[in-house]
Amino acid sequence: MHDILPEAVASWHRIEDVSRQVLTSYGYAEIRTPILEVTDLFKRSIGEVTDIVEKEMYSFEDRNGDSLSLRPEGTASCVRAAIEHGLLVQPQRLWYRGPMFRHERPQRGRYRQFNQIGVEVFGLPGPDIDLEIILITARLWRRLGFAGLRLELNSLGDPDERQAYRNELVAYLSSHGDRLDAESIRRLHTNPLRVLDSKHPETQKVIADAPTLMDHLGESTRSHFQSVCSGLDQAGVPYRLNPRLVRGLDYYNRTVFEWITDDLGAQGTVCAGGRYDGLVEQLGGRPTPAVGFAMGLERMVELLALAGHASDAPVHAYLVAVGEQAQAEAPFLAERLRDALPRLRLMTHCGGGSFKSQFKRADRSGASYALVLGEAELERGIVGIKPLREQTGQQELDFGDLVSFLAGLTKDTLDRGASAQLSGSISTRRLQ
Ligand code: HAM
Repeated sequence: MHDILPEAVASWHRIEDVSRQVLTSYGYAEIRTPILEVTDLFKRSIGEVTDIVEKEMYSFEDRNGDSLSLRPEGTASCVRAAIEHGLLVQPQRLWYRGPMFRHERPQRGRYRQFNQIGVEVFGLPGPDIDLEIILITARLWRRLGFAGLRLELNSLGDPDERQAYRNELVAYLSSHGDRLDAESIRRLHTNPLRVLDSKHPETQKVIADAPTLMDHLGESTRSHFQSVCSGLDQAGVPYRLNPRLVRGLDYYNRTVFEWITDDLGAQGTVCAGGRYDGLVEQLGGRPTPAVGFAMGLERMVELLALAGHASDAPVHAYLVAVGEQAQAEAPFLAERLRDALPRLRLMTHCGGGSFKSQFKRADRSGASYALVLGEAELERGIVGIKPLREQTGQQELDFGDLVSFLAGLTKDTLDRGASAQLSGSISTRRLQ
């Protein structure tokens, strides 16, 4: 679990802002659910025989003796909330953001508290919505400037197709039992599809010749999957079919997908999801098809750094004031500027000191400009403005011109009434 320090927060905001904009532009509504849920919810949805439930949940008994868990993911909570609040009477396109908790072995890109932005859609059974949510992710990568993410795609079929496949897979793997690793042998009878995910080299060789689920799909599942693929072709989103993509959570059926990068080391899956048509009913709701995905924000923040995203200066301007009167006026000048320019990021110097020492602080603040108010400026009704990141000289502006100049930085639009009020000198100072 880690702290996110101020210098990193700009990247988080960028990812969160772009995600919110894009999701809102597709008509998705935000939902916020608690971080704690009853443990049973995760057992019943993610599956008893999964790494998450077997080994990774932060579970404890509360004062009533109920077993609660910090949420390891967001899908189960969304389904619970949708059932509980009667949201399933019509289709729902929801998104959420927040911390998730898994007691995994920490390494680069894998943390015990991590953050996801996720999407869950309820009530839409067709391939069109599978396509939509993948196109959302592709748009997000474009907006964030992420290159080199590859989309892997598979269909896990419907439960009966998977059962038939499962029997065949168990028979095949059992006949090669002597070459499988211990974990895979254990999984063989509890969760054999997960054997396909094994990283063990000898097991992988066995898997290479294993029958694939794709060959066991019925007509309807197959055409659903083909529609998703041809939609992606038409949209110009490249993908790779990966028959070994099984996902680590039990609730999936039909379309599953992952976006993977080679730029982040071993933990390269940035986004993952798929369809889970049985889960709502399994958790006590009316039968409702569902599909969704979640993106790992820590991994996206790393990708953003690789994409060379330059974050905005923390503040536009830093106001230095020297001399008793100028210092007394400075906070009120700053307040008037903030009234005129709601988007202005302006830091005022506090604590007095010489011009030299105040300029040092101005420089360290990361501001693009220093605004200078000394006794001479006050006398003449102007403010000095000095670029801190370029070698150009100081200009002198009266209040109206200063506001117009700063509006150019903040992209605030000034309405006529405001500009009229702004004209004039800085020395009408005190706020009422
Ligand atoms: P997941 O594959 O377990 O799926 O997680 C989704 C993403 O969360 C991963 O691809 C990764 O980027 C990030 N992630 C997972 N664990 C960690 C960790 N320990 N540290 C950092 N990042 C991590 C789900 O959670 C499903 N609920 C996705 C979904 C939504 N399926 C349908 N709807």
